[in-house]
Amino acid sequence: MAERKNFVLKGNICYSEDIHLLRTVEQGYLVCLEGKTEGVYKELPEQFKALPLTDWGDMLIIPGLVDLHIHAPQFSFRGLNMDLELLDWLNTNTFPEEAKYKDLDYAKKAYQIFADTMKKSATTRACIFATIHRPATELLMDLMEETGLKTMVGKVNMDRNSPDYYCEKSPKESERDTIEWLESVMSKYDNVTPILTPRFIPCCTDELMERLSRIQKKYRIPVQSHLSENKSEIHWVKELCPTSRFYGDAYDQFGLFGKPAKTVMAHCVYSTHEEIDLMEEQGVFIAHCPQSNTNLSSGIAPVRTYLERKMNIGLGTDVAGGSGESIFRAMVDAVSVSKLRWRLLDESLRPVTMEEAFYMGTLGGGAFFGKVGSFLKGYEFDALILDDSSLPHPQPLSLKERLERFIYLSDDRHIKGKFTEGSRIF
Ligand code: GUN
Ligand code: FE
Repeated sequence: MAERKNFVLKGNICYSEDIHLLRTVEQGYLVCLEGKTEGVYKELPEQFKALPLTDWGDMLIIPGLVDLHIHAPQFSFRGLNMDLELLDWLNTNTFPEEAKYKDLDYAKKAYQIFADTMKKSATTRACIFATIHRPATELLMDLMEETGLKTMVGKVNMDRNSPDYYCEKSPKESERDTIEWLESVMSKYDNVTPILTPRFIPCCTDELMERLSRIQKKYRIPVQSHLSENKSEIHWVKELCPTSRFYGDAYDQFGLFGKPAKTVMAHCVYSTHEEIDLMEEQGVFIAHCPQSNTNLSSGIAPVRTYLERKMNIGLGTDVAGGSGESIFRAMVDAVSVSKLRWRLLDESLRPVTMEEAFYMGTLGGGAFFGKVGSFLKGYEFDALILDDSSLPHPQPLSLKERLERFIYLSDDRHIKGKFTEGSRIF
């Protein structure tokens, strides 16, 4: 029987209508019909008065948060070994850990912790990297399905420049595994869909990229990868792909860089003008991962430039480059690092504001999933119920101030309810 997804929530409602407009409604009514937002009202219209209503008192109600970039198998070593830069960090920490997911018992233990944590978090949508292993990737998808979160999960493709014990043996083998994986998962789930996941150019031969490009066209699935994260990485891509004009061009040569393929690229710290132009033209989404870019000493992305150009941009945690799964924390970090960039590097690019960070963590990233990340009419009903009563303050605060403070001060204990597409997660 179809679940009833028609109801009203009452509370203090905050959401982005667009990047410059954070709308707040005190003691408002949020109407959900068939899993979609019908509207936000100061007074409940007559025609909705028969719907079941939950009064959340003085709590805040906001859209669910979107993590555009996270590595599930790296959750096991979050907060460990943060003293290396990207390429050494991959070889020393990441590849040895990801190789363990060949063992399904290990994968089950590790991925259960990941799924349980994500369920309790403020995240309602995520783009997730798994590993090269098909069985463990399907296990992760099974576990994510049970959480009720709406996620895209990718079996990683990589056939060069990693140790033998964690490298697909040939482009053909990688292609075969990917097709078998897709055939198995394409229509298996309500909440989880596959996303094509070439790790990054240094780990993917041209032949593999060509095969993945054919797969993308046949199955019409979205694409996720990494782009212009670290200076040594970018230098290496130039050596590996002498004919590409810039890093993103190495994806574009295979049609894996935006239109018609829906694509999200993590980082974009050092994207050149040409690369930015092409991302804009082809609608490539940027997953801004400020904590990872700090931990791995990668740098600070020019987010102001991306926002001014109205490019597609959201936030990512990039666990374990980032040490935690909190997108609230990513919002704070996005603001903080932008101030350092402005002060130390380029005074022409103003710091990111809290409204802009909130937009990126909700509506900005949500657009990768469709009409997601806002309470505008017709948007999929993803919502969080937030209780700031244990974060007391002596002075009166506006709703906007309470939201800002919540972003800085809260943790998962302050989340009292969570919905995706009108279904209650907890
Ligand atoms: N580039 C290629 N692989 C990775 C990864 O696992 N994490 C990050 N941050 N960058 C990458
Ligand atoms: Fe990453």
